[in-house]
Amino acid sequence: MKDYKIAVIGDVHSNYAGLEKCMEHALSQKPDEFLFLGDYISDCPYPQKTMNIIYEMDKNYKCNFIRGNREEYMLNHRKNADERWTYSSASGSLLYTYENLTQKDFSFFESLNIQGYYNKEGYQPFRYCHGSLTRSNEILEPEGENTKIFMGSLDVDLLVSGHMHFQEDKFYGKKRLLHPGAVGVSWYFDGKTQYMILHGSKSGWEAEFFQLDYDVEKIIRDFETSGLHQKAPSWSEITMYTLRTGIDHNFDCLNRAKELCRQAEGSVTWPDIPEEYWKQALKEFGISQ
Ligand SMILES: [Fe+2]
Repeated sequence: MKDYKIAVIGDVHSNYAGLEKCMEHALSQKPDEFLFLGDYISDCPYPQKTMNIIYEMDKNYKCNFIRGNREEYMLNHRKNADERWTYSSASGSLLYTYENLTQKDFSFFESLNIQGYYNKEGYQPFRYCHGSLTRSNEILEPEGENTKIFMGSLDVDLLVSGHMHFQEDKFYGKKRLLHPGAVGVSWYFDGKTQYMILHGSKSGWEAEFFQLDYDVEKIIRDFETSGLHQKAPSWSEITMYTLRTGIDHNFDCLNRAKELCRQAEGSVTWPDIPEEYWKQALKEFGISQ
Protein backbone atom coordinates (compact mmCIF):
# COMPACT_ATOMS: atom_id res chain seq x y z
CA MET A 1 0.00 0.00 0.00
CA LYS A 2 1.23 3.49 -0.88
CA ASP A 3 2.51 5.76 1.89
CA TYR A 4 -0.38 8.22 2.40
CA LYS A 5 0.68 11.72 3.49
CA ILE A 6 -1.31 14.23 5.47
CA ALA A 7 0.25 17.64 6.17
CA VAL A 8 -1.01 18.78 9.59
CA ILE A 9 -1.11 22.53 10.19
CA GLY A 10 -1.82 23.92 13.66
CA ASP A 11 -2.13 27.35 15.28
CA VAL A 12 -1.33 29.83 12.53
CA HIS A 13 -2.41 32.82 14.64
CA SER A 14 -2.36 35.15 11.61
CA ASN A 15 1.32 34.48 11.00
CA TYR A 16 0.96 34.48 7.23
CA ALA A 17 4.76 34.51 6.70
CA GLY A 18 5.11 31.30 8.70
CA LEU A 19 2.12 29.82 6.88
CA GLU A 20 3.59 30.69 3.45
CA LYS A 21 6.79 28.93 4.45
CA CYS A 22 5.04 25.81 5.76
CA MET A 23 2.79 25.62 2.69
CA GLU A 24 5.75 25.94 0.34
CA HIS A 25 7.61 23.21 2.21
CA ALA A 26 4.57 20.95 2.58
CA LEU A 27 3.68 21.22 -1.12
CA SER A 28 7.23 20.15 -2.02
CA GLN A 29 6.53 16.95 -0.03
CA LYS A 30 3.45 16.26 -2.19
CA PRO A 31 0.95 15.42 0.55
CA ASP A 32 -2.29 13.69 -0.39
CA GLU A 33 -4.24 16.05 1.83
CA PHE A 34 -4.04 18.78 4.46
CA LEU A 35 -5.47 18.86 7.95
CA PHE A 36 -5.82 22.29 9.57
CA LEU A 37 -6.34 22.26 13.33
CA GLY A 38 -7.72 25.76 13.99
CA ASP A 39 -6.60 29.06 15.53
CA TYR A 40 -6.07 30.54 12.09
CA ILE A 41 -6.28 34.10 13.37
CA SER A 42 -5.38 36.52 16.22
CA ASP A 43 -2.10 37.59 17.88
CA CYS A 44 -0.29 38.51 14.63
CA PRO A 45 -1.33 41.31 12.25
CA TYR A 46 -3.35 41.34 9.02
CA PRO A 47 -5.59 38.28 9.57
CA GLN A 48 -6.95 38.68 6.03
CA LYS A 49 -3.54 37.67 4.63
CA THR A 50 -3.78 34.34 6.46
CA MET A 51 -7.43 33.82 5.52
CA ASN A 52 -6.63 34.40 1.84
CA ILE A 53 -4.01 31.63 1.98
CA ILE A 54 -6.50 29.35 3.74
CA TYR A 55 -9.15 29.95 1.05
CA GLU A 56 -6.60 29.38 -1.73
CA MET A 57 -5.54 26.11 -0.12
CA ASP A 58 -9.18 25.05 0.20
CA LYS A 59 -9.78 25.82 -3.48
CA ASN A 60 -6.74 23.96 -4.82
CA TYR A 61 -6.09 21.00 -2.52
CA LYS A 62 -7.91 18.41 -0.47
CA CYS A 63 -8.22 20.12 2.93
CA ASN A 64 -9.96 19.39 6.22
CA PHE A 65 -10.54 22.26 8.62
CA ILE A 66 -11.72 22.48 12.21
CA ARG A 67 -12.35 25.46 14.47
CA GLY A 68 -9.99 26.64 17.24
CA ASN A 69 -10.78 28.54 20.42
CA ARG A 70 -9.78 31.84 18.77
CA GLU A 71 -12.39 31.36 16.06
CA GLU A 72 -14.89 30.56 18.81
CA TYR A 73 -13.97 33.78 20.63
CA MET A 74 -14.68 35.73 17.42
CA LEU A 75 -18.02 33.99 16.80
CA ASN A 76 -19.08 34.38 20.43
CA HIS A 77 -18.13 38.06 20.46
CA ARG A 78 -20.41 38.65 17.51
CA LYS A 79 -23.31 37.00 19.33
CA ASN A 80 -22.65 38.65 22.67
CA ALA A 81 -23.12 42.40 22.43
CA ASP A 82 -22.33 42.80 26.14
CA GLU A 83 -18.80 41.47 25.90
CA ARG A 84 -16.51 44.50 26.11
CA TRP A 85 -13.24 44.39 24.20
CA THR A 86 -11.09 47.54 24.25
CA TYR A 87 -7.85 48.65 22.64
CA SER A 88 -5.55 47.53 25.43
CA SER A 89 -2.96 44.88 26.10
CA ALA A 90 -5.65 42.55 27.50
CA SER A 91 -8.17 42.59 24.64
CA GLY A 92 -6.76 44.89 21.91
CA SER A 93 -5.38 42.03 19.82
CA LEU A 94 -8.74 40.25 19.84
CA LEU A 95 -10.59 43.47 18.97
CA TYR A 96 -8.15 44.31 16.17
CA THR A 97 -8.61 40.82 14.72
CA TYR A 98 -12.40 40.97 15.06
CA GLU A 99 -12.51 44.30 13.22
CA ASN A 100 -10.46 42.88 10.35
CA LEU A 101 -12.60 39.81 9.69
CA THR A 102 -15.13 39.68 6.87
CA GLN A 103 -18.57 38.09 6.60
CA LYS A 104 -16.92 35.35 4.56
CA ASP A 105 -14.54 34.62 7.46
CA PHE A 106 -17.37 34.43 10.01
CA SER A 107 -19.36 32.13 7.73
CA PHE A 108 -16.31 29.93 7.23
CA PHE A 109 -15.68 29.68 11.01
CA GLU A 110 -19.38 29.02 11.60
CA SER A 111 -19.27 26.09 9.17
CA LEU A 112 -16.51 24.26 11.10
CA ASN A 113 -16.70 21.67 13.85
CA ILE A 114 -14.29 21.65 16.81
CA GLN A 115 -13.24 18.06 16.15
CA GLY A 116 -13.24 15.36 13.53
CA TYR A 117 -12.90 11.63 12.93
CA TYR A 118 -10.48 10.50 10.25
CA ASN A 119 -11.41 7.15 8.79
CA LYS A 120 -9.88 6.23 5.47
CA GLU A 121 -10.30 2.66 4.31
CA GLY A 122 -7.17 0.61 4.89
CA TYR A 123 -5.64 3.07 7.39
CA GLN A 124 -5.77 3.38 11.15
CA PRO A 125 -8.64 5.69 12.15
CA PHE A 126 -7.87 8.66 14.40
CA ARG A 127 -9.57 11.61 15.99
CA TYR A 128 -8.44 15.22 15.67
CA CYS A 129 -9.30 18.46 17.42
CA HIS A 130 -7.94 21.85 18.42
CA GLY A 131 -8.04 21.62 22.24
CA SER A 132 -9.99 18.47 23.07
CA LEU A 133 -12.97 16.70 21.55
CA THR A 134 -15.41 18.60 23.75
CA ARG A 135 -13.70 21.97 24.41
CA SER A 136 -11.69 23.92 21.85
CA ASN A 137 -9.67 25.63 24.60
CA GLU A 138 -8.86 22.59 26.73
CA ILE A 139 -5.14 22.30 27.40
CA LEU A 140 -3.76 18.81 26.77
CA GLU A 141 -0.29 19.27 28.29
CA PRO A 142 1.73 16.05 27.93
CA GLU A 143 1.92 15.49 31.71
CA GLY A 144 -1.49 16.93 32.60
CA GLU A 145 -3.82 14.79 34.73
CA ASN A 146 -6.71 15.79 32.45
CA THR A 147 -4.65 14.61 29.48
CA LYS A 148 -4.06 11.20 31.04
CA ILE A 149 -7.76 10.79 31.84
CA PHE A 150 -8.79 12.03 28.43
CA MET A 151 -6.39 9.76 26.57
CA GLY A 152 -7.44 6.80 28.72
CA SER A 153 -11.05 7.23 27.62
CA LEU A 154 -10.31 7.78 23.94
CA ASP A 155 -12.17 5.32 21.66
CA VAL A 156 -9.37 5.21 19.05
CA ASP A 157 -5.60 4.73 19.43
CA LEU A 158 -4.53 8.12 18.07
CA LEU A 159 -5.43 11.74 18.79
CA VAL A 160 -3.99 14.64 16.78
CA SER A 161 -4.57 17.96 18.47
CA GLY A 162 -3.43 21.58 18.31
CA HIS A 163 -3.66 24.47 20.80
CA MET A 164 -0.28 23.48 22.25
CA HIS A 165 2.34 25.52 20.44
CA PHE A 166 4.99 22.81 20.58
CA GLN A 167 5.54 19.45 18.94
CA GLU A 168 4.83 16.30 20.87
CA ASP A 169 4.57 12.57 20.27
CA LYS A 170 3.59 10.75 23.44
CA PHE A 171 2.03 7.42 24.36
CA TYR A 172 -0.44 6.86 27.20
CA GLY A 173 -0.47 3.09 27.32
CA LYS A 174 -1.34 2.23 23.73
CA LYS A 175 -3.03 5.56 23.02
CA ARG A 176 -0.91 8.11 21.22
CA LEU A 177 -1.14 11.91 21.34
CA LEU A 178 0.42 14.01 18.59
CA HIS A 179 0.78 17.80 18.57
CA PRO A 180 2.06 19.20 15.24
CA GLY A 181 3.45 22.41 16.82
CA ALA A 182 2.43 25.91 15.79
CA VAL A 183 2.90 27.64 12.47
CA GLY A 184 2.69 31.00 14.25
CA VAL A 185 3.96 32.01 17.72
CA SER A 186 5.63 28.63 18.14
CA TRP A 187 7.52 27.51 21.21
CA TYR A 188 11.12 26.26 21.27
CA PHE A 189 13.44 25.79 18.25
CA ASP A 190 14.21 29.56 18.42
CA GLY A 191 10.67 30.32 17.26
CA LYS A 192 10.94 28.51 13.93
CA THR A 193 7.63 27.84 12.21
CA GLN A 194 6.43 24.26 12.72
CA TYR A 195 4.17 21.66 11.17
CA MET A 196 3.95 17.89 10.84
CA ILE A 197 3.43 15.29 8.14
CA LEU A 198 1.62 12.07 8.98
CA HIS A 199 2.76 9.11 6.93
CA GLY A 200 0.09 6.41 6.79
CA SER A 201 0.73 2.78 5.99
CA LYS A 202 -0.78 -0.58 6.85
CA SER A 203 1.02 -0.51 10.20
CA GLY A 204 -0.37 2.90 11.30
CA TRP A 205 0.70 6.54 11.20
CA GLU A 206 4.21 7.89 11.60
CA ALA A 207 4.84 11.53 12.44
CA GLU A 208 7.51 13.62 10.77
CA PHE A 209 8.09 17.00 12.44
CA PHE A 210 9.46 20.08 10.70
CA GLN A 211 10.88 23.33 12.08
CA LEU A 212 11.63 25.92 9.43
CA ASP A 213 13.33 29.31 9.25
CA TYR A 214 11.15 32.02 7.76
CA ASP A 215 11.05 35.80 7.44
CA VAL A 216 10.07 36.61 11.02
CA GLU A 217 11.12 40.27 10.68
CA LYS A 218 8.47 40.74 8.00
CA ILE A 219 5.76 39.88 10.52
CA ILE A 220 7.44 41.99 13.22
CA ARG A 221 7.38 45.05 10.91
CA ASP A 222 3.67 44.48 10.29
CA PHE A 223 2.88 44.98 13.98
CA GLU A 224 3.71 48.67 13.36
CA THR A 225 2.27 49.18 9.88
CA SER A 226 -1.04 47.51 10.81
CA GLY A 227 -1.52 49.57 14.00
CA LEU A 228 -1.78 46.38 16.07
CA HIS A 229 1.18 47.35 18.27
CA GLN A 230 -0.55 50.61 19.22
CA LYS A 231 -3.88 48.87 19.88
CA ALA A 232 -2.45 46.10 22.09
CA PRO A 233 0.96 47.40 23.20
CA SER A 234 2.31 44.88 25.69
CA TRP A 235 0.49 41.86 24.22
CA SER A 236 2.13 42.66 20.87
CA GLU A 237 5.54 42.90 22.51
CA ILE A 238 5.05 39.53 24.22
CA THR A 239 4.01 37.99 20.88
CA MET A 240 6.96 39.52 19.01
CA TYR A 241 9.31 38.23 21.71
CA THR A 242 7.97 34.69 21.24
CA LEU A 243 8.19 35.00 17.45
CA ARG A 244 11.87 35.92 17.73
CA THR A 245 12.89 33.49 20.48
CA GLY A 246 10.40 30.64 20.82
CA ILE A 247 10.08 31.57 24.51
CA ASP A 248 6.50 32.01 25.69
CA HIS A 249 5.50 34.32 28.54
CA ASN A 250 2.01 35.41 27.54
CA PHE A 251 0.07 33.93 30.44
CA ASP A 252 2.95 34.62 32.86
CA CYS A 253 2.72 38.29 31.96
CA LEU A 254 -1.09 38.37 32.01
CA ASN A 255 -1.18 36.76 35.45
CA ARG A 256 1.57 39.01 36.80
CA ALA A 257 -0.11 42.16 35.42
CA LYS A 258 -3.38 41.09 37.10
CA GLU A 259 -1.58 40.41 40.36
CA LEU A 260 0.16 43.80 40.31
CA CYS A 261 -3.19 45.48 39.58
CA ARG A 262 -4.88 43.61 42.43
CA GLN A 263 -2.11 44.52 44.86
CA ALA A 264 -2.19 48.22 43.95
CA GLU A 265 -5.92 48.73 43.42
CA GLY A 266 -7.56 45.99 45.47
CA SER A 267 -9.29 44.30 42.51
CA VAL A 268 -8.87 43.51 38.86
CA THR A 269 -11.42 43.08 36.08
CA TRP A 270 -10.37 41.81 32.66
CA PRO A 271 -9.85 43.61 30.27
CA ASP A 272 -9.34 46.71 32.42
CA ILE A 273 -5.75 46.07 33.47
CA PRO A 274 -3.87 49.40 33.33
CA GLU A 275 -0.92 49.37 30.95
CA GLU A 276 1.55 50.28 33.72
CA TYR A 277 1.12 46.81 35.27
CA TRP A 278 1.71 45.12 31.94
CA LYS A 279 4.88 47.18 31.48
CA GLN A 280 6.13 46.12 34.90
CA ALA A 281 5.35 42.45 34.17
CA LEU A 282 7.21 42.59 30.84
CA LYS A 283 10.25 44.05 32.61
CA GLU A 284 10.21 41.27 35.19
CA PHE A 285 10.16 38.59 32.48
CA GLY A 286 12.99 40.26 30.54
CA ILE A 287 10.79 41.09 27.52
CA SER A 288 11.38 44.83 27.80
CA GLN A 289 13.74 47.10 29.72
FE1 LIG B 1 -5.71 27.60 20.67
